[in-house]
Amino acid sequence: MRKNRAEEWLQDKKRKYGPISKMSLLGTPTVFVCGQAANKFIYTCDDSILANQQPSSIRRLCGERNILELSGHEHKRVRGALVSILKPEVLKQHVGKMDEEVRKHFKIHWHGKKKVLVENHRRSNENCVLLHFFMSYISLISLYNVGNAIDEDSYLQRYELTDIRNRAKCKREILVELFQQLLKGVLSVPINFPFTCFNRSLQAREKIRTIVMDLIHEKRAAMEDQITSPQQDLITTLLSLRNADFSAALSDEEIVDNVILIMIAGYDTTSILLSFLINLLANNPSVYASVLQEQEEIARSKVSEDLLTWDDLQRMRYTWRVATETLRMTPPVLSFFRKVLKDFEYEGYLIPKGWQVIWAACMTHMDECLFPNPSGFDPGHFDKQAPVPPYSFVAFGGGARICPGYEFARLETLITIHYLVNRFTWKLCHPNVSFSRDPFPIFKDGLEIELSQRSQVN
Ligand code: HEM
Repeated sequence: MRKNRAEEWLQDKKRKYGPISKMSLLGTPTVFVCGQAANKFIYTCDDSILANQQPSSIRRLCGERNILELSGHEHKRVRGALVSILKPEVLKQHVGKMDEEVRKHFKIHWHGKKKVLVENHRRSNENCVLLHFFMSYISLISLYNVGNAIDEDSYLQRYELTDIRNRAKCKREILVELFQQLLKGVLSVPINFPFTCFNRSLQAREKIRTIVMDLIHEKRAAMEDQITSPQQDLITTLLSLRNADFSAALSDEEIVDNVILIMIAGYDTTSILLSFLINLLANNPSVYASVLQEQEEIARSKVSEDLLTWDDLQRMRYTWRVATETLRMTPPVLSFFRKVLKDFEYEGYLIPKGWQVIWAACMTHMDECLFPNPSGFDPGHFDKQAPVPPYSFVAFGGGARICPGYEFARLETLITIHYLVNRFTWKLCHPNVSFSRDPFPIFKDGLEIELSQRSQVN
């Protein structure tokens, strides 16, 4: 599964045994389900019957109180808190900040370059411009406001970070570096011996935990002194949430765990979308031309230093359809696990308590009854005239756990594409790049592009 395309493995399974079959995965009895009916069943199933199940590495690195580990009332409470900062009304305030960061990124890493390594085959930041790297910058500033909160020297002394001093030049880079270290362990074998990848990730988690805890204290003090507004950033919003009796809605540990989880959930997903979008645009000149036309019109309506606004982003309808089509063809998250807590019946089969369900939600993306000519890249799949059937496009999940970061991902993607197509043209250094899953989709030889500067519209 690691080396081959998971898509093919799953399709093969469906072809041989149909949309429901059983198997043993590492000794655990497992039911495999896929299809529109399976999506509907699982997204609407009570979490007292089917519970979320993540690899133990995620629990240990994100912490016991991260949203993925919670169910029922606890899940609703923490989810409500996260949604309260990720909802459109709040994100509107962050569009300008995101725009500034994207421009800065292009100026530093793209302008004047002949070639750019967008993504390397290990999905690490070595020798490559790494969209992930700067995406997390955006998340950090927009959501956590780290930029001003911590003094750089005290960082290094207090958190014993001298080992990354040479690589990371400022406090945000230091935090990003730590997150990258943590991320390497998320899908590694969770063996905690000195010098294992997982051990280094656990150490990074401890440092991040201390930093976020300090931020919590700092921001709580600022709130008490009334020198910050309640929705200034993620941590302040989470701190300001109250229960009916005015006690804090989330404990400090819950805030730490969910700040870490949000960084992980929003990190690879959006950067994968952008990398694949860059690849698909390079291979589809007519789609590229329509995206360019839409983005040039928006650029022309602005004075060169104007930042993009929320209204500008609402006009990028075609570009978002192209991004959605990219997610249909290459969903960052292909399948999920659920744990069976109570016996239940599905399609005439009794699934016993204690089993697990592996469910390939995004296989509906390649069902030709739902998306005609599914292997063709066609943003027309998302035209308003032909609405997408329910439970068929599920790149952002569905039901009670549908991705709360949808709007945030949309903003990051549209702003980036706006500056990318207005400022550069590009072609792939290695045409016909292929990808495998690890379990995220990853270009086998990385993604390198040859860049030409356009005369700037804005
Ligand atoms: C293209 C970008 C993204 C994709 C494709 C994506 C996809 C998903 C999917 C499929 C799920 C549901 C998992 C399940 O059913 O178990 C999910 C959950 C989640 N996502 Fe995203 N995501 C993206 C970006 C983001 C961003 C930017 C953030 C944060 C800023 C975020 C935060 C979360 C959180 C917190 C959850 C857990 C929700 C819960 O358990 O209630 N995601 N995401």
